[in-house]
This record gives sequence, C-alpha cells and structure tokens, in this order.
Amino acid sequence: MRPLVLLIVACLLPGCGQKTVKSISFHEQIQPILKSQCVKCHGTEIARGKIVLTTYESMMNSRTAKGKKPLVVAQEPAKSWLYIVCATNQPHYRMPPDTSTVVALTKEQLQLLSKWIEGGAKEN
Ligand code: HEC
Repeated sequence: MRPLVLLIVACLLPGCGQKTVKSISFHEQIQPILKSQCVKCHGTEIARGKIVLTTYESMMNSRTAKGKKPLVVAQEPAKSWLYIVCATNQPHYRMPPDTSTVVALTKEQLQLLSKWIEGGAKEN
C-alpha cells in the first residue's frame, strides 16, 4: 500500500503531469548544447561539412552532404539529421566525432533535442 499512497501524494503536488507538455526553449536549452558541443567545428569560420550551428537560421539553412537533407524537420526527430547524427550508435558518423575531445551528448541532452523537435522545433 505505502508506495501507492506515495505515488498518489506525489501526483497531487503542483507540476505533476505537466512535464510532458512543457515546451523546450531553443534559446535556453538547445542553443547552449550546440554552443558547447558543436560550434567548435560548425561555426562561421570553421564549418565542417558546410554546417553552421551558431544560430537558429544557419542551422535551418544547413544541409547534409549526402542528399542535401535538412537538419531539422519539425515534429520528426527520426527525420532530423541534427538529432540522428547525435543519437546514432554508429560511431563512424556520430557527432561529435569520437576522435574529438568534445564530449558526447548525454541522454538528457538527446531527450531535450528530441522533445524540442517533436514540439515543432520553434525558435523560442
Ligand atoms: C570535432 C569536430 C566536430 C564536432 C565537435 C561536431 N562535428 Fe559535426 N561534423 C564534423 C565533420 C568533420 C563533419 C563532416 C562530415 C564528415 O566528413 O564526416 C561533420 C558533419 C556533420 C553533419 C552532417 C552529416 C552529413 O551527413 O552531411 C551534421 C548534421 C553534424 N555534423 C552535426 C553536428 C552536431 C549536432 C554536433 C554537436 C552535437 C557536431 N556535429 C559536432 C565535425 C564535428
């Protein structure tokens, strides 16, 4: 009984159940990730693969080398190369590259990215 009671009490607290609908902010949550883990190689001076991740606009205008696919398709993380290359378990195309000193994205960061895309990938 006790764990169930705790669960019910926890769900009466303010904020319970709202986490899933809370929208992710590009400026506050996504851009800091890009800045710390991507811009070193995808900036305005060094733009590997011609991909520039310094601003929302430059990210939206960047395309993959193969097939010129968009990096972000609103509501579709599985079609968004920005997310695909970070979430893949294929080391040969995962970003940031294993060979770099830049640390890989954490599960939490990947989740933020995925939820932001699912929520419409807005410049918010
Ligand atoms: C240490 C340098 C480095 C870092 C850091 C880095 N990248 Fe890259 N990235 C590259 C290089 C080099 C390429 C060019 C593709 C290739 O030739 O492998 C590339 C290509 C890409 C591509 C295009 C892939 C394609 O199929 O054309 C995407 C998307 C990408 N990076 C996203 C990111 C994201 C998002 C981050 C941050 C989480 C990031 N990268 C961090 C070096 C880096």
